[in-house]
Amino acid sequence: MQEKLYLNGSFFPSDEAKISVMDRGFLFGDGVYELIPVYKSKPFLLGQHLDRLRVSLDLTGINKELINFSKINDAVNELISVNQYKEHSIYIQITRGVEKIRQHIFDKCGEPTVLVMGQPYKKYSVSEIEQGFKACIQDDYRWTKANIKSTSLLANVMLKNSATKMNKYEAILIRDNKLTEGSASNVFVLSQDVIKTPKLSNKLLSGVTRNLLIELLRQNTIEVSECDISKEEVLSAQEIWCSSSTNPVVPIVTIDDISIGSGKVGKFTLDAYKIMDDYINQY
Ligand code: PDD
Repeated sequence: MQEKLYLNGSFFPSDEAKISVMDRGFLFGDGVYELIPVYKSKPFLLGQHLDRLRVSLDLTGINKELINFSKINDAVNELISVNQYKEHSIYIQITRGVEKIRQHIFDKCGEPTVLVMGQPYKKYSVSEIEQGFKACIQDDYRWTKANIKSTSLLANVMLKNSATKMNKYEAILIRDNKLTEGSASNVFVLSQDVIKTPKLSNKLLSGVTRNLLIELLRQNTIEVSECDISKEEVLSAQEIWCSSSTNPVVPIVTIDDISIGSGKVGKFTLDAYKIMDDYINQY
């Protein structure tokens, strides 16, 4: 059976869905998105993702009033059901829509374009997690509206690919000598025996996984500090992990080939992994 997707109110076989070349998402990257994991055929934290989508729409001025959120919610569940997704992800993208001519000014733009589709999900095995991953440090040369989950991801794409070329899982980004986030993840460090993660600002995404992890760790009486973290503190950290909806806790054991702590996955990281895994399994 051909996989189905949802576009502007209707369901289509995925290779039959079409959008106009005049869509501002195509011409300008003028859109916002969410990626939601599906575990055991259930969307994980869909409400939180839709809330953040509303924030991204507000921050970009894409007219939220023209978007039917309950239809999007239903489309997510319908796609999981018709495509029989078990462990998968759902991608939602909303662009400002189609216009007659290519122009920066958007006041003549019509209805936003709404796309919901499935994405394959590849979870790391426990042995991969126990082995840990390599990262590199890169300058955060992205724009300073990284709190918007925008489809304009060219800088993130370039940063991630340059890390991949060096055989690293993630590029850990530094702006003004401070940690912001990864190219596609948030970052936690264990430093001076305290788990720290950058405090929220316009320089990083308010990660759904980040926020849940902070809440779960605190419920487990593990202190978490949301604060500034210098590049030196990253490099001398006892432990580091990255978090995202695609991979909730990914241990980092080297940065630019320098060992983090013992160079092995640490206890706090494994605790965070387990706490999150238990939560997912009980969801
Ligand atoms: N990205 N920061 C950036 C720059 C990201 O791209 C992501 C996730 C995160 C983590 O956010 P969350 O926990 O809400 O997934 C942080 C997704 C998965 C993506 O672009 O595919």
